[in-house]
Amino acid sequence: MKQIKKIGIITGGGDCSGLNAVINGITKTAINTYGLEVIGYRRGYFGLYHNDFQVLDLKAVSGIMHEGGTILKASNKDNLFSYPFEKEDGSYDYKDVSDVAVENMKKEGVDALIVIGGDGTLTSARDFHRKGIPVIGVPKTIDNDLPATDVTFGYNTSLETITDALDKIHTTAYSHDRIMVVEVMGRNTGWLALEGGIAGSADVILLPEIPYSIDKIVDKIRDRDRHGKSFAIIVVSEGAKPKDGEVHVREIVKDSADNIRLGGIGDVVTRQLQALIDNHEVRYTNLAYIQRGGIASQFDRMIGLRFGVEAVELLMDGGTGQMVRCRGREISYVPLEEVVGSGSTGETSHGGAKYVDPKGQMVKAAKAIGISFGD
Ligand code: F6P
Repeated sequence: MKQIKKIGIITGGGDCSGLNAVINGITKTAINTYGLEVIGYRRGYFGLYHNDFQVLDLKAVSGIMHEGGTILKASNKDNLFSYPFEKEDGSYDYKDVSDVAVENMKKEGVDALIVIGGDGTLTSARDFHRKGIPVIGVPKTIDNDLPATDVTFGYNTSLETITDALDKIHTTAYSHDRIMVVEVMGRNTGWLALEGGIAGSADVILLPEIPYSIDKIVDKIRDRDRHGKSFAIIVVSEGAKPKDGEVHVREIVKDSADNIRLGGIGDVVTRQLQALIDNHEVRYTNLAYIQRGGIASQFDRMIGLRFGVEAVELLMDGGTGQMVRCRGREISYVPLEEVVGSGSTGETSHGGAKYVDPKGQMVKAAKAIGISFGD
C-alpha cells in the first residue's frame, strides 16, 4: 500500500455529542505521532464531492473535545454512489459520482479517509474501500442500536439530557397533578427511552420492542391515583407502536438514502389519554433535537477520543476497510463488509439492529420497581 502522508476526515449522518472528540483524537494522533497532514471535508460526502475542506492542524482542533456537533458540519443525504439530481418534474435521477471524489482526493494528495457515521455513511466508506481507497470507519449514533459495538459516543450524553429533562418535568407533573408524556428519539429501538426513563423515574415507558395498549396505561394511572400518586410521567420512544398498530412516520425525506423519519407518537398517546382520563390534564413534550446537542459527557469524550486515536493507529498499521468498535473496555476492529448495508450501524435501523430484549435484565429491573410498559 502507498505510504500515507495525508488523511481526510468525514463526519456524516445526524450529529451527536462526541464527534469533535473523535476529530480531536484523529488529528492529534496523526500529527503528533505520525507527522501526517490532515484535512476535514465539510458537510460529509458533500464536501468530498465538491472538494470543500478545511485544513486541520493542532490549532484547529484545540479546545473542541467537549463541544457538541461537529466542527466539520454533517449531512445525511449525500450518497456519492447514488447521488440525487433533481429533474424538472421534481423527481430524482441517481448517478454514481464517486469518481469525482477520488479525483478530488488525488488533486489534494489525500491518501486515506477516516469516515465517522452510521450505516449509510459507513456503507459508502465500504464502497470507497472497494474502489481501492484506504478507509477506516468510526461508528456513531445516539440510538445505541449497533450490534457491532457495545457502546458509541453520543448515547451517554443523550441519556444525561433525557434524565435531566425528566427530573425537571417531574416538577410540573407533581405540582399540577398532571400526566406528562415525553417523547424521545431512538428510531426503531427503545434504548434511549428505557435507560433514560428508568433513570428519570418514569412510571410508564413505551418501546418499539414492546407494543402497548392504551388501556394498560390508563390502568397504571388509576393505580397510582389509588395509591395517592396523582401524577405520572410517560416516556414514549419515537418508534413505539400500539398492539396491532404501526409506527408513526413524521416525514419522508425525499433525497435521503434512509428516508423515513419517525416522530409524533407521543402526541397521539397524549390525545388518546386525555379522551379517557378526566381527573388529570395530560401534557406532551417532545425532547427532539435537544437529545443530540450540547456539551459531551465525560464518557462520550473518552470513547470518542479513543476511537479517533485507534482509527489512526489502525490505518498506519496497514488496516483498511475496517471499523473501530468497543467490546468490554477495549477498542478493537471489525471489517466494514460485516457490519454495513444491513441497517445495523445506526442510520438505518430496520435490519439487524441491536434491540432491547423484552425479557432482558433491564426490562426486568424496570418492572421490578413498578414501571409499566403498557403491555
Ligand atoms: O439516528 C439518530 C436520530 O437522531 C434518530 O434518533 C432520529 O430518529 C433521527 O436521527 C432524526 O433524523 P433527522 O435529523 O434527519 O431528523
